[in-house]
Amino acid sequence: MTRAAQGFATRAIWSGRERCAATGATIAPIYQSVTYTLPQIGAPVEFDYSRTKNPTRTFVERQLAALEDAEHACAFGSGMAAVAGAVSLLSSGDHLLATRDLYGGTHRLFTHVLPRYGITTTFVDTADIAATCAAATPRTRMLWLETPSNPRLRLCDIAALARTKPPSVLIAVDNTFASPFLQRPLALGADIVVHSTTKYICGHSDALGGAVISNDPEIAAQIAFHQNCVGAVPGPFDSYLTLRGAKTLPLRMEAHCRNAARIAEFLERRDDVAEVCYPGLPGHPQHELALRQMRAFGGVVSFRPRGGAERAHAVATSTRIFNLAVSLGGVESLICLPARMTHASLTDDERAELRITDDLLRLSVGIEEVDDLIGDLERALELSVSRGVARVG
Ligand SMILES: Cc1ncc(COP(=O)(O)O)c(C=O)c1O
Repeated sequence: MTRAAQGFATRAIWSGRERCAATGATIAPIYQSVTYTLPQIGAPVEFDYSRTKNPTRTFVERQLAALEDAEHACAFGSGMAAVAGAVSLLSSGDHLLATRDLYGGTHRLFTHVLPRYGITTTFVDTADIAATCAAATPRTRMLWLETPSNPRLRLCDIAALARTKPPSVLIAVDNTFASPFLQRPLALGADIVVHSTTKYICGHSDALGGAVISNDPEIAAQIAFHQNCVGAVPGPFDSYLTLRGAKTLPLRMEAHCRNAARIAEFLERRDDVAEVCYPGLPGHPQHELALRQMRAFGGVVSFRPRGGAERAHAVATSTRIFNLAVSLGGVESLICLPARMTHASLTDDERAELRITDDLLRLSVGIEEVDDLIGDLERALELSVSRGVARVG
């Protein structure tokens, strides 16, 4: 059976694997070797030095490509290394258009690092297709999309943007929040997919990693060249952890989505919660698009408890199961205050424009018993009022 004919769960488990020629080991070994003995000087070999290519990394690269139904993947040492890898396709004088509400680290790279290399960025509301196309200039080379966005879970229509953008503009999609199980940007017309595999793909909060994935051999060759030049590669053990974690991606995503939907509904029913951001709620402004573009709605829920910053702070520090921590996508539930944590590098004005204010909380809903998670939030919401930190309502 060809790879594309296999179902997602089969590809997650079997792609990337190669029977170990020496031992027959079923599970990909960790090739903890930097260098490789050469048969003779100048003879072509697949592996000679692990910055360029390492067998365990090759296994995970094949698996990541298969998950996005793509031909090529390059693995990086973190999601940010992958973002930097993707924008290495740009040159001095090029212009980048990017979703306005991006992950804070990506925003920081685009605003603080790229300008030093002569690359400028304009941030736009990519949910507005006309405004996005109008913001393109003759120098625009790439449109950078993050959908759903972090932390307000706004969406943009990848297929519509791919149809409308100028032909010379490449579309790159950071697919970290959805994972390849929920959203397939290349099939929707994107040229490049980027992941922080640290999140859902690895899924256990124990290995940093990133990937740049595409179907275009020229793009793939340029990314691989950058990967080798810069050397921001994952080590064999992190490659192995990512490979192992990704095998259960479909099972975990189903559980994340189920739990997150229950939590979003629970929060929406409460009078002491002013706003819930979750694309699966019928009231989400882009719910119709989410139904079209995603298989399900993901494991991240953001919300504003009534009572302002003080109450949000009290909730974030009162939960017992939801752990106060940055990151997302692991099996364990986390809570964070984006304005002070993940998005602290934005200016006050930038955060105000994106409504990432001090009363907004972000949950990464894990795969624990959902009733325990709801009980934990209920207790924290009630405790935050009884502690007298806020007038609610
Ligand atoms: C959407 C998104 N992209 C990229 C990154 C960067 O990933 P990493 O922390 O693995 O460098 C993150 C990290 O939170 C993220 O949320």
